This record gives sequence, C-alpha cells and structure tokens, in this order.
Amino acid sequence: MSLDKELNKILIVDFGSQFTQLIARRIRELGVFSEIVSHKKIKSTNITKYTKGIILSGGPLNVYEIKKYSFDKKIIEKGIPVLGICFGHQILSKLNGGRVKQSKHREFGLANIREKKDSLLTKNFFKSRKNSKVWMSHADQVSKMPKNFSVIASSNNSKFAIVENKKRNFYGVQFHPEVTHTENGKKLISNFIFLICKIKKNWSSKDQRMKLIKDLRNQVGKDKVICALSGGVDSSVVAQLLNKAIGKKLFCIFVNTGMLRKNEEKQVVQTFKKKLKINLIYVNAEKEFIKKLSNVSDPEKKRKIIGNLFIKIFERYARKIKDVKFLAQGTLYPDLIESKSVTGSQTSKIKSHHNVGGLPKRMKLKLVEPLKFLFKDEVRKLGLELNLSKEIISRHPFPGPGLAIRMPGIITKQKISILKEADYYFIKALRENGLYDKIWQAYAALLPVKTVGVMGDNRTYEYLCLLRAITSEDGMTADFYEFKKSFTQMISNKIVNSIRGINRVVYDITSKPPSTIELE
Ligand code: XMP
Repeated sequence: MSLDKELNKILIVDFGSQFTQLIARRIRELGVFSEIVSHKKIKSTNITKYTKGIILSGGPLNVYEIKKYSFDKKIIEKGIPVLGICFGHQILSKLNGGRVKQSKHREFGLANIREKKDSLLTKNFFKSRKNSKVWMSHADQVSKMPKNFSVIASSNNSKFAIVENKKRNFYGVQFHPEVTHTENGKKLISNFIFLICKIKKNWSSKDQRMKLIKDLRNQVGKDKVICALSGGVDSSVVAQLLNKAIGKKLFCIFVNTGMLRKNEEKQVVQTFKKKLKINLIYVNAEKEFIKKLSNVSDPEKKRKIIGNLFIKIFERYARKIKDVKFLAQGTLYPDLIESKSVTGSQTSKIKSHHNVGGLPKRMKLKLVEPLKFLFKDEVRKLGLELNLSKEIISRHPFPGPGLAIRMPGIITKQKISILKEADYYFIKALRENGLYDKIWQAYAALLPVKTVGVMGDNRTYEYLCLLRAITSEDGMTADFYEFKKSFTQMISNKIVNSIRGINRVVYDITSKPPSTIELE
C-alpha cells in the first residue's frame, strides 16, 4: 500500500522471510502503520523522524554470506529501537560483535522457551510457570551473545531465544512472534511497538475498502478489465471490488479446466451470473487443459502449463471483448511470497502459484492484483464489507491449478473422476457433521500408488486416497485437524465403499512447515 509520508511508522527491513508480510499484518491489526523495505534497497537516509521502530525480518540467508546480503549498519545506529527476528536476531547480534553458527539441532516447529529475566518486550508474554510455546524455523543460531546484551529467555536448543540490550533498545528473538502458532506472539510485537517504540495507534482497517477501490480506479482509469473468476473467495472479492470501482468496464471470465470440484461450474454460473448479475463469460476448456497436461508429472511443469494456458485463454477472450488492457486476479500475499519476494529480497521459491509464477514473461495484459498484500482472513472481512454472501466468504480456499496438484504423478481422466468423487464425499461429510467451518481447508487427493486390499473375499489393487484437513489463520502455517475416530472411520468406509478405484484411505498428519498445504 502506498503510504502517507507524514505518518509515524514501524519500518520492516525484509531479508526474504516467508513471514515478512505477517509482521506487517500484525502491526496493521494493532492499528499502526508500517512499511516494508528490502534490505537491498534500504539506506540509512530512509530513516526519518517518522521512523519510530525498526524490525529486521527473518530470511533464508546465512549471516556469513556477506556478499549475498547487504545491510547498512548505520540503519541501526540512529538510536531507534530495533527488534531482530530469527535471521534478523542473528544479524543484529553479529553487527554488535556476537557470533552465529550452525545449530547442532535445527529447530522447525513448536519449541518451549523459559523466562530468565524480566523485560519490557515480554511484559505479560509468558504465562504461568514462565514458559511459552513459540514457533521456530532456523538452522543457524547465535552462539555468542554480544557485549552488553542479556538473556531474557532460552529454549533447550537456543540459549539466546530472546536477548536485549536495554540501554540501546536492541531486542532479538530466535523464533517467529508474527506467526499465530507462537503463543502470545502478538503481545510481544505489541510490547515492542507500543512500550518500547512508544508509537501511537494511527491506522484503521475501516478505510481499507475505500482505499482499495480508489487505488483500482487510479490504476485502470477508463480501460476495460477482465477478471479471472474462480468462484472462490479471493477472485469473488476482486470481482466485487472492481464492480464497485469500474462497473460495466469489468468482464469476468470463468474457465472450466476440467479440474474443478464436482458440480463447481454449475454453482459458479448460478451464483455470479444469476444471483449477483455480474458480467460473466463461461469458458469450457476441459479438453484443452487435459491435452496439455497429458504425461506431465513434474509439479512445477504442471503449474506452469496451467498458468500459461489460463493466460492464453484470457488473452483470447480479451481480444474478443476488444480494447482490454488489464487482467485482474485474486492473488493473495501467501501466493506471492511462496513464488517470489515482493520486495525483491531472497525469499526461497517454494512453488509457482499459478496466478504468479505461471505467467508468461511477455504477457500482453497488465496485471491488477488488489489483494496482493492481504491475507485470507483479511480478504474474508473485506468480502463481508462488500456485501458478498457468507456462503461465498466461508468457502475453503481452492488453488487455481485445482485437482491437478492434488494428483501427484500423471493426470488421467479416470483419476480426475475418482478424485472428484472422493473430494465430494469428504466435503459433504464435513458439512453434514458441522465440521466444515471449523476447518480452514480440506480436500481429498489421489496418490500415484496402488495397494492391495480385500473386498468381498476378492483381492483388490487400487489407488490410495489421501485426506487432508488443516487449521490455519492465513495459510502461512498450519496444523492438521484432529478428527474423532468415528468420523475418520465413517469417511474411510464411505469413500472405499462408494468409489470404484480406491481401496485405502490415509490421513495427512503433517503441519506446515515442514509440509505445505497442497501436495504439489
Ligand atoms: P501451500 O500448498 O503453498 O498452499 O501451503 C497455501 C494456500 O495456497 C493455496 N494455493 C494456491 N492458490 N493458486 C492459488 O490461487 C495456486 O497456484 C495455489 N497453490 C496453492 C492452497 O490451496 C492453500 O490454501
């Protein structure tokens, strides 16, 4: 978001962490304005009287790969409070004369830290017995603390889990307070910005809708826009925002890739064309997608093929509509961050999300992505403000490449139809058992393995169906949902008994990280 220079702010220096936008988001939620700048672009002259605090993000770098990152030390020498997170903590320690080395035990996931000393940073952060659960994700750690720093908390593997130099207002945390899986993480950020930086609330989400609409009008002017509508929450919100911003100059295109959920195409046309009266063009491109994907098993290739084909179709329709200059899509921040870094820092690429990484280099249409700095739940709130129905707003996320990335290995028509049925039974059962809204995202996947089973005294040799259901706040981190045995038993029976082609059901019990939500 472009920001008013007159506002006091917290400056976030991005070293390429998957979580940098989460830091901004937490600060947004606390009612304070923040700005993210890449470590490559920031200069000490960017620090003005409006900069009330600096947060150094995490990142995939190693503090000793000096050539790979640049950072002007003067930035932290202006007397402004600094909070270093993970890599930021390590670089802060190193710049102050400490040492960093590879951890004996890499820590990914939950860890317990114990309080050693009081600090303003941890006021009301620890619960009873002075312990707290935090989310770690690091391979290096501080091995020697700089002079004049003291330890506030330690874990079994990280002696310097929280450190401070009170006099200089320098704070470092080895874990990620910005992710929801860190108990009370927001409290720690709140302590930093309000108690240590002493900034006052100056940012409200109420104006966000108006600001986004205004920005859209400024970006597209009087030109026509096509919107890639999938019927999911994100593209629906984008369509409605554009509807408010430019009305009839908006054309929504819904592409049936053949890899949608069962009956989805009918539902989307019903909702958008008939109920919301949005200008909707339905394109049945099932054959085209299946042909292009035949014999492709590499996940990245699948994603790129799908992304490219989507764009080709949109361009084809743009030519038909005439004079279209823009393509709008519901890219969210997590889609973007896992494909590339927004600020140009070295975020590791995890997946090419189809609406980001799959775009051809020389695409003729310019992109409109009004949600690209927002997270799913923020988009849901925005959708409600835009009067979209709760039914649309509460739908589980569904990826652009659809069932293609829930079917590792080669895609066939037979596999698609088996998977559609399995997914249908699973989601139906969640709804019927009042579980759908408790779960952030759930789906069935078909694994490219066959296993032996026995049904009615006969040997079967059929596919393995994997079920995944996760809880999350924003898709950046996730935990698997714990079903009761009665539910897993029922759904496993239902799937195996109802669908020819599946004789075994497994449940995915990994969190994110180390896994991702989708399989590919
Ligand atoms: P992962 O698998 O990266 O997924 O943990 C995080 C969230 O993003 C969704 N997802 C996508 N959404 N285009 C999208 O619009 C994509 O290419 C894509 N890939 C993953 C995924 O369903 C989950 O909600």
